[in-house]
Formats: sequence, structure tokens, C-alpha cells
Amino acid sequence: MKNRPILGIESSCDDTAAAIVADGRTIVSSVVSNQEKIHCKYGGVVPELASRKHMESITLVVEAALEEAGITLAELGGVAATMGPGLVGSLLVGFSFAKAFAYARNLPFAGVDHLEGHISSLFLMDNPPEFPFVALLASGGHTIIFYVKSILEMEVMGQTRDDAAGEAFDKVAKLLGLEYPGGRRIDEFAEKGDPKKIKFPRTFLDKTGFEFSFSGVKTAVARFVEQQEKEQLNSMIPDIAAGFREAVVDVLCSKLLLAAKTKNCKQIAIAGGVAANKRLRERIEQDAAKNNLTAYIPPISLCGDNAAMIAALGFHHINASQLTSLDGDAYSRASFRNAAQLK
Ligand code: KG4
Ligand code: ZN
Repeated sequence: MKNRPILGIESSCDDTAAAIVADGRTIVSSVVSNQEKIHCKYGGVVPELASRKHMESITLVVEAALEEAGITLAELGGVAATMGPGLVGSLLVGFSFAKAFAYARNLPFAGVDHLEGHISSLFLMDNPPEFPFVALLASGGHTIIFYVKSILEMEVMGQTRDDAAGEAFDKVAKLLGLEYPGGRRIDEFAEKGDPKKIKFPRTFLDKTGFEFSFSGVKTAVARFVEQQEKEQLNSMIPDIAAGFREAVVDVLCSKLLLAAKTKNCKQIAIAGGVAANKRLRERIEQDAAKNNLTAYIPPISLCGDNAAMIAALGFHHINASQLTSLDGDAYSRASFRNAAQLK
């Protein structure tokens, strides 16, 4: 059972995903069914619509992952699914499906934390980081710095007090009239703008802790937008996007470097949807080179939500006999095993 591939399932927000991963390291197949088109017209994820779409997609997505992998059900060694945090109605679709699947096939089952799952995407890279390392997880719902001692021991060093970095990107995009999900759109516009033209605040940059706050920079953009003539705003979007992106990336990178220094770690990593950001990827490389550190940056396909990262982490839970009972429940809010670390 130990070395057989794991089926991973992810449905915490608006992506229905399934993947087959071997040895916790090798992606055999990975399928993601995206709901962007459904939520786009509402400017954000509508939870009820998301869970309905997961219901429609889950069986098809799991079948596609098995087919793409070219394996039979009898070859699977276990099932892993995201247990939380996320939208409960969405989580329950994948989580319940996975439990039923494990029960029917008599397979070990592991409920996996979505945030730790994002960090586990780093172990699917050709050259994964060695332990220990510090990692920034920046997604739509969370911004956290982890000290990763092993795949099953991730300590939270700090997190955001208000908006997550991805959430700030999405809200600023909305202010500028850009389509949801806005992070990618802001990134595209920022490439054409001048990051020095408009300076936005960098909250907590002067503080020695590892906490973040992004509501201030979002409000500063809102104020700036209000003060502009409507007709001129369109032509200013690239510079606003570039100035905003630079402010967010500055804080993210500085805090990660500080974390590496504090823990005396030579390796830094990024993960989560915001890790797809062009400027963040560039800055992490530059900062690592300047400070004699090694940067680990996952490929774009592993930054956003996917089930390969869930299967990778699930593999280690199952091998360590950290199984989840079939009456286990999903959870909506971050619930770290090392919750004592959270202030
Ligand atoms: O990890 P993820 O796919 O889902 C969550 O767990 O939340 O992250 C989604 C977030 C969204 O806020 C999205 O706007 C942001 O990642 N994002 C980006 C980029 N691509 C996605 N933010 C900045 N630049 C990007 N290129
Ligand atoms: Zn995510």
C-alpha cells in the first residue's frame, strides 16, 4: 500500500481539482476545472453557485484524473482531500466524495489542510527545498510565513491581520473596473506601468514581526482613484497597478527575508496563487541572490489551487499513519496543528 499512488481532491473555493501523485513527489495526472466564468459576472465567488458547480464536476474531474494517469482504482494506495479552510459548502463536496470513495474502496483516507497543501506544492518541483526553510504562502484568503521543519511540521511565524495579499489584489482590481479574479489582471497592467510614479504605503515594513496588513494600501488606492478625473483613470491604470504591486511585493519580500534571517535559514520559498505574480517571482530571485540565499518558486501551474499538492501532502499523512476518521468534518477557518504559535 505504501508506495502506491494517492488520489488527491481539492474543492475549497472555486476550482474542482483531482490529481494522482506517486511517492508524494511525482505528478502522474492533475486536472483542474475552473469556475471563473460563472463567478466573473458577480465580481467574486458566489458560495452557493460554487458548491453547485463542484457537485456537477467532481465525478467527471476524478474520472479524468484517473484516465489521464492510466491507472485503475485497484492501483491506488489512498485518498486525500482538502478538509479546510475554505467555503464549507464547497469543501464538503470534495471532502465527502473522497470519504465515500475511500470507504467504498477500503483505502486509507487523509483530510489535508489547504494552506499546508500549498506549501507542499514545493515538494513537487524538480529541485525541492531542503528542510528547514521559510516559506511565504500568499493566496486569496491567507498571507502567512511558515517555518517548515519537515513536511508534517510547519510553524506559523506570522500572518495578515486583515486582508490577504490576493484579496487586496482582487479588491484593487475591482476598484479599477477590472475583471475577477483581479490578481492576474493587475499583474498584466503593472507590466506596462511605472512602479515609481505613484507611491502607495507599505504597512508594517518598519516592524520587526512577521505580521502583514494590506487593507491600508487598498484604501490608499481607493482614495487615489476617487481623486482622479473619470476620463483620465483608464490611462492611469498601468501606473496605479505597478505602484500597488510594488508596494505589496516590497512588504512580502522584506518579511520573508527577515524570517530567513531570524531562523538562520539559507532557503526561502513562495507558494499560493499570488506566487504566480511576475514581480514577486522576480524580486524573490533578486533578493535571494543579493543575500546569498536559494529561492524556491513553484511553476505557475502549482501556484493556484490544484489537487496535486493535496495528494503530495496526503501521501505523507498516510505514510505516517495520520489518517482522518470517516466521520471527520470540514472546517472553514485556518486551524493549525501548531495553533499555539498564532498570536
Ligand atoms: O491559492 P489561490 O489559487 O486560491 C486561494 O487559496 O485563495 O489564490 C488565489 C489568489 C486570488 O486572490 C488571485 O487574484 C491571486 O491569487 N492571483 C494573483 C495572480 N494570480 C492569481 N495575484 C497577483 N498576481 C498574479 N499573477
Ligand atoms: Zn489556495
